[in-house]
Amino acid sequence: MKKIFLSENDMPKSWYNIAADLPTAPNPPLHPGTHQPLGPDDLAPLFPMALIEQEMSQQREIPIPEPIQEGLKLYRPSPLIRATGLEKALKTPAKIYFKYEGVSPAGSHKPNTAIAQAYYNKQEGVKRLATETGAGQWGSSLALAGQMFGLEVKVYMVKISFTQKPYRRSMMQNWGAEIVASPSQDTEFGRKVLAEDPENTGSLGIAISEAIEDAAKRDDTKYSLGSVLNHVLLHQTIIGLEAKKQMEIAGDTPDIVIGCVGGGSNFAGLAFPYLRDKINGANIEFRAIEPAACPTLTRGKFAYDFGDTAQMTPLVSMYTLGHTFMPPGIHAGGLRYHGMSPLLSHVVKEGLVDPYAFHQVEVFDAAALFSRTEGIIPAPESAHAIKGAINAAIEAREAGEEKVILFNLSGHGHFDMSAYDAYYAKQLEDYVPTDDDLAKGISATAGLPGV
Ligand SMILES: Cc1ncc(COP(=O)(O)O)c(C=O)c1O
Repeated sequence: MKKIFLSENDMPKSWYNIAADLPTAPNPPLHPGTHQPLGPDDLAPLFPMALIEQEMSQQREIPIPEPIQEGLKLYRPSPLIRATGLEKALKTPAKIYFKYEGVSPAGSHKPNTAIAQAYYNKQEGVKRLATETGAGQWGSSLALAGQMFGLEVKVYMVKISFTQKPYRRSMMQNWGAEIVASPSQDTEFGRKVLAEDPENTGSLGIAISEAIEDAAKRDDTKYSLGSVLNHVLLHQTIIGLEAKKQMEIAGDTPDIVIGCVGGGSNFAGLAFPYLRDKINGANIEFRAIEPAACPTLTRGKFAYDFGDTAQMTPLVSMYTLGHTFMPPGIHAGGLRYHGMSPLLSHVVKEGLVDPYAFHQVEVFDAAALFSRTEGIIPAPESAHAIKGAINAAIEAREAGEEKVILFNLSGHGHFDMSAYDAYYAKQLEDYVPTDDDLAKGISATAGLPGV
């Protein structure tokens, strides 16, 4: 069987919350002023109460409200596909499956949480959402979801992507959002950054600061984040819950589960329902793949740090390159983030998930091979997972083992063709930060509470 579909009736009715099953508790988020564990009221200016409750919940299964299920049915359940063409090209005895999240209208997994977040905000009377976007995938997803539930959306888009990806902007406009390049003149923090460095190409850390400032200053506006937070990872578990049903139909269980990691949400979405099995004794390996240019898990420090550059977020315990770190302008814009989800950081720290880092050019080589063997042109972010799967399949071939590999193809690359142009023109470079670069970034965590 090449593709395995589920019917709409088989779509999961609850999300899976891994907090209920973790063998050890993660460190709590701290108030940036008092350094005391955060309470729900601390987050109330930024998020609706339903999402704050999910952020702190220990309940294993959280029901998906009917209107969110209806919204998700625009494109879910998503297909599980066996990468038979890639298997053949690699001459591997391994079976490679991937969950394809590029079928959503925005082209990635991001609407899985955008639809949920827009719904809960609407329920609590919010009129407008402010957010940031790196590659443009998240901004377009929230624009789509805002349109679905009648909310205005303002997107602060990292300037380098704003320039590299004009059609992502057009998409957001089509779904009614307002977009500005970050750093922008629209916020105090943006103006400060531009005054110091008019050529600043932006970063997710700066764009997050701008969106938070926007939300904090307006009564009608809340903030929305496309990754990192517990409730975002929770909403993404629909990917893994569907995949489990589909793998059962295929008659296989994965030995290795793989995903790319920016803030950690698509990886966790696929992996956490399987990680529950590992915690209960199953023998499954988990590989989280990041760019060597922004090596948060493989070379970062496990520490309390801010999620944004302007130090407006709570302090969270995570792997970090420091909140002032400016990642180089690689084309996988969605993976250029200095931090990592606290939940994912915790399971990496506990040895349940193994991090890997790959270089930009080898990742595009993997994307090109995948396009030729499976037809789908992957997003540069997702291509990191493909590279991870290819390496695992080659290891299986060399060991003569019939491993079952499952990876998340988090999005398509139809709006990333300028990156492919650069690849074919041999203009892509491999950036690797030096130890000194990293030490400088990580020094921003000095003086913050210890883990
Ligand atoms: C297609 C795609 N995959 C992956 C990511 C990384 O985010 P996360 O780690 O939260 O899944 C992004 C972020 O923009 C993305 O657009």
